[in-house]
Amino acid sequence: MTSIYAQRRAALAAQLGAGGVAIIPTAPERARNRDADFPYRHDSYFYYLTGFTEPNAWLVISANGHSTLFCQPKDLEREIWDGIRLGPAAAPAALGVSQAHSVGELNKELPTLLENQSTLWFPFATHDNLSSQIDQWLSHVRARVRMGVSCPSSQQDLCTLLDEMRLVKDAHEQDTMRRAARISAGAHVRAMQLSARMLRQGQEVREYHLEAELLHEFRLHGAQFPAYTSIVAAGANACVLHYRADTAPVRAGDLVLIDAGCELDGYASDITRTFPANGKFTGAQRTLYDIVLAAQYAAADATRVGARFNDPHDAALKVLSQGLLDTGLLSHDKHGSVDDVLEKKAYFPFYMHRTSHWLGMDVHDCGSYVEPGEANTAPAKADPLTGQMVQPRPSRVLREGMVLTLEPGLYVRPGEGVPEAFWHIGIRIEDDAIVTAKGCELISRGVPVDADEIEALMRG
Ligand code: GLY
Repeated sequence: MTSIYAQRRAALAAQLGAGGVAIIPTAPERARNRDADFPYRHDSYFYYLTGFTEPNAWLVISANGHSTLFCQPKDLEREIWDGIRLGPAAAPAALGVSQAHSVGELNKELPTLLENQSTLWFPFATHDNLSSQIDQWLSHVRARVRMGVSCPSSQQDLCTLLDEMRLVKDAHEQDTMRRAARISAGAHVRAMQLSARMLRQGQEVREYHLEAELLHEFRLHGAQFPAYTSIVAAGANACVLHYRADTAPVRAGDLVLIDAGCELDGYASDITRTFPANGKFTGAQRTLYDIVLAAQYAAADATRVGARFNDPHDAALKVLSQGLLDTGLLSHDKHGSVDDVLEKKAYFPFYMHRTSHWLGMDVHDCGSYVEPGEANTAPAKADPLTGQMVQPRPSRVLREGMVLTLEPGLYVRPGEGVPEAFWHIGIRIEDDAIVTAKGCELISRGVPVDADEIEALMRG
């Protein structure tokens, strides 16, 4: 049976054009300090085409479908220290590539693979020094032009092809993402329960206690890493969008915002829940929570095949803007109707990020947010916040198998005219959605989202 990786390599080869050749390195190992490295994480493009997770590896694909892997050679001493290597002899059978060499042969073999090819594809602006390394290989090819060899005469960004391929997730990818989301949802459940239980027992709770619970649950279920640095933000810290889990106390009466997800077998999950530290929302917290939740439901309703990427955002913005007017966070007298709030972006002090991003191997996954090839017909207009002229571009049309987050929020800092009851409340609710023919599948709802259900869970 042809592996999914071989199928992807063949699909990519078919797009390279006659005389095309593609070079894809994996990620480098990175030193953390002195003799300690950061945990190794492969390059997503490379993994997408190989399923291979060792460092020091390169893939070369030709338009005729021939694939060459360069990987670490077998080395008894290094394998005693660092672990078993696949090695070039075993790679063709294990990975389905046409041939494999030791990575030590890269500089010798690469110019040969580039000879007499017309177009060189590689990922632009993703790997340090890649283009200068490629220049060196090309200069070796050029040195042989007098012998009748031809040198590639054009270079193309391989990301344009791979980003489009990765944007629509196949059944295997969707299944992995469902499993990752299930693990992350379980981790959020545990963190909520731990917070309520420790506070009930009179124990001091810190943000890192909740982070530890998340990490424990991720690894317990086989996830290799957190997909990004976990945000565990107690009280006012929730209004800092990229806050990291730190040492702040988690107090009864405060909300806790947790934005955390695991990476499983190369795929990210990304969930945010906001919950009362002791398991019971206050009136003001509940008011804002229900607005954000209604905004997320509106966003989910707007997520379906044929809709635009911006539709969930626009749907969420309407609900949030109405909520800001209803609660007095924005005054009707000053800001007028919901349409006025939207037109002037008056919601911006309370909601300053987008509702969605693509999700996949990378938490902010690759893929264009505008529909390729679609003409821009709308006139440029001034952004109400910056005054700069902005040329709106038609956003992406959603297709079955695309995966995006739905993550509206409200963040209330103290300010003149801001009702004090809402000060320091930060709420975001985020789920992962697979676009389906009929709507979307929310794959991360293994953790409750309804306020009553969160309270029930935390009582248990
Ligand atoms: N949820 C993490 C991020 O989107 O950056």
